[in-house]
Amino acid sequence: MPIREITTKPYLDQKTGTAGLRKKVAVFQQPHYLENFLQAIFDCVPELKGQLLVIGGDGRYHNRDAIRTAISLAAANGVARVVVGQGGILSTPAASHLIRVRKASGGFLFTASHNPAGPDGDFGVKFNIAGGGQASEALTTRIYEQTKIIGRYYVLDGTEVNLDRCGEQQLGNTVVEVLDSVDDYAQLMQQLFDFDRIRDWLKRGHSLRFDAMHAVTGPYAQRIFVDLLGAPPGSVSNAVPLQDFGGGHPDPNLIYAKHLADLAYSSESPDLIAASDGDGDRNMILGRGLFISPGDSLAMLAANLALLPGYRQGLSGIARSMPTCRAADQVAAALKVPLHETPTGWKFFCNLLDAGQATICGEESFGTSSVHTREKDGLWAVLAWANVLAATGLSVQELAQQHWARYGRHYFARHDYEELDTALAENLMRQAASLLPTLAAQSFASWTVTQADEFSYHDPIDGSVAAAQGHRIICGEDARVVLRLSGTGTKGATLRVYLERYVREAGALNWATGDAVAPLAAAIDKLARISELSGRRTPDVVT
Ligand code: G6P
Ligand code: ZN
Repeated sequence: MPIREITTKPYLDQKTGTAGLRKKVAVFQQPHYLENFLQAIFDCVPELKGQLLVIGGDGRYHNRDAIRTAISLAAANGVARVVVGQGGILSTPAASHLIRVRKASGGFLFTASHNPAGPDGDFGVKFNIAGGGQASEALTTRIYEQTKIIGRYYVLDGTEVNLDRCGEQQLGNTVVEVLDSVDDYAQLMQQLFDFDRIRDWLKRGHSLRFDAMHAVTGPYAQRIFVDLLGAPPGSVSNAVPLQDFGGGHPDPNLIYAKHLADLAYSSESPDLIAASDGDGDRNMILGRGLFISPGDSLAMLAANLALLPGYRQGLSGIARSMPTCRAADQVAAALKVPLHETPTGWKFFCNLLDAGQATICGEESFGTSSVHTREKDGLWAVLAWANVLAATGLSVQELAQQHWARYGRHYFARHDYEELDTALAENLMRQAASLLPTLAAQSFASWTVTQADEFSYHDPIDGSVAAAQGHRIICGEDARVVLRLSGTGTKGATLRVYLERYVREAGALNWATGDAVAPLAAAIDKLARISELSGRRTPDVVT
């Protein structure tokens, strides 16, 4: 079986964003496009040679083609063994876990997360390193530099790998192992959580609804909730992964999973309602009559984590991304463990997790996970909630009320202005940045600014610095507004405005979030001239 060297020309747009290279399917379908990017990875990570590589994706349109290409390049670049999920399916957390348990030297994850799929939708690829975490900024920069000068790539011709049959196939000198996409992950979950107790909780009449949104978590949820925990089959909806995600937008939030919020506020509400996104790393949690914001979910899980089998030894620390509300900070203080504040992007948690400095991490963008893997993990969060409810005997509502009564409540909302002209958005951010040094001690809505700056992160483990990670206007513990541009959009620029307000008084714990943060929204709009400069009177999306 001959290895062929193919001559190619660089594409100049292969710079990765917050979570890998994400483009329209048509961009990835250009001749040599994916091959160039993957070859640049092989060129920059020679450790992949002779080692094990994990490959999988979220099942979206173009997944199988991309996986075949990746296997061919892997074999031609001397990878000894490729482990691939059956049908090309691996959720992002399951892929990260496989890299860890199989001691792989890396993995290719084909996903554009929650972005719409199908021929006109998005596609993407992420490279995860040994240990299961996403490639560092330094490595992705090196890969990008390589894509700009690449002139050839290598493929191994002449074989068709059957992605649907579990077992080993030989491809030149490379063994391709197709394995059940769910087995290892389901096993890990059984080590972390008390499945007997959750099964019992369900048997005693409690109910659960998980919406897989026709994306990758369907088979995982089916196995875990229905087969292993004995939930009635109707507990998992939209369980069959479809190439176009059923034409939907599998982003579990109050906009795209509004039907779940409607269910939660109806008389039919199950005790726990949850959903995950396209590649299975995000989660949304609701209880009867209540939506749990991701920042609250992190804080509430952190406060109760030591009740769960995998975490009995307690927490070493909690980490959250900077824009995520500061609810977890209160829990960290009570538990007397460090609270780490990182830039947006899961990769920033990985050094802390590797160094044993954080046990649980979370982001406002519906991401929660723990030290068990190096990606955020949607089903993990749902199981953690189910286990906490089963262990405490509380409802979601009771648990939240008790939490807020003890720690106070952080009202949080994110306002997004999507598909803005990039130059306009950058100008808006520049103008806002120029105001920051003047704001300290000034009034902002009904608060006083205690600190206003651009966030930069000094990684305590490797000493790297990530600068310009968002503007923040902080009014002590009581309020905070953060502005930043999204790093995951595929069209124009998205401005994110994060609004947070903290209250402790008993009478203030059950306001509507929109009302609670409205004064902050008005104040930042005036200060940063958002509606004036953007021409939009209201945000496009509020989550
Ligand atoms: C992805 C990343 C997250 C990030 C989110 C939003 O899901 O994995 O780490 O928080 O995107 O990123 P953005 O740059 O669009 O705000
Ligand atoms: Zn995702």
